[in-house]
Amino acid sequence: VARIDYAGQADAYRAARTVPPAVLAEWDAAVARLTLPRPERVLDLGAGPGGWVDPLVRWFGAPVVAIEPSAAMREEAAVAGVGVRHPYVGGQAEHLPLRDDSIDVAWLSTVIHQFDDMDAAARELGRVARDGCRVLVRGFFADTPVTGLLARFPGIERSAASFPSIARISACLTGAGFAIEHQEHVIEPWTFTLGPWTERVRRLHHVDSALRPLTHEELEAGIRAVHDDHDAGDVIPSPGTLTLLVARR
Ligand SMILES: C[S@@+](CC[C@H](N)C(=O)[O-])C[C@H]1O[C@@H](n2cnc3c(N)ncnc32)[C@H](O)[C@@H]1O
Repeated sequence: VARIDYAGQADAYRAARTVPPAVLAEWDAAVARLTLPRPERVLDLGAGPGGWVDPLVRWFGAPVVAIEPSAAMREEAAVAGVGVRHPYVGGQAEHLPLRDDSIDVAWLSTVIHQFDDMDAAARELGRVARDGCRVLVRGFFADTPVTGLLARFPGIERSAASFPSIARISACLTGAGFAIEHQEHVIEPWTFTLGPWTERVRRLHHVDSALRPLTHEELEAGIRAVHDDHDAGDVIPSPGTLTLLVARR
């Protein structure tokens, strides 16, 4: 997956990726089911514009430090307020600007596929993790089921294959001293009407997403297929599936 330059795109990313309450509720429930012990410090790695920082505070009741390499994303987080209310630090997964044994939970949401070196990132997580630390990886991977309207795009299987597999991510983490504790597919209950959905998929084609590797023709063919099946006012359910992988140090 090609590295994304977020300069000039961070606002579009935030607009396209802000999670609606029904979707957030699925993640509230998935994390609650893990019944993790209360941590002292949480890391949001590759935090982007910061959409998960407040949920992390709510879930864990502990201070969150966000690490994000893109200045445009950090600026977007600052404008949204979240980058001002919480420590929001420049840095990369492969060289974490954190002390040894300083983190109890690390949240990696739709980010691991962008790392330059997943093994180095896992080693760094191993270095900063305290004993018992959980790494929670949320993402779309090569073997995450393709569901909802996403399945209507020709080329989507080729796009999925360009993401790392769950086995590869697990191997990086176990190689760095973590044990895989839990894996599930979380089904996000998205619903759309045609107009906003069409705008959204055209935006997502330019930012990091499963649609980005598609050609222009594949994107337009998927849009046409969905338009052929629905009327303008239809509320269209489009369950989206992401994987949650939990590793324990
Ligand atoms: C798709 S965004 C996800 C942002 C946020 N975690 C979310 O779920 O909304 C991916 C983020 O990973 C960051 N990123 C890319 N390479 C990284 C690396 N090597 N270390 C840490 N973050 C990285 C990008 O700058 C971007 O903000």
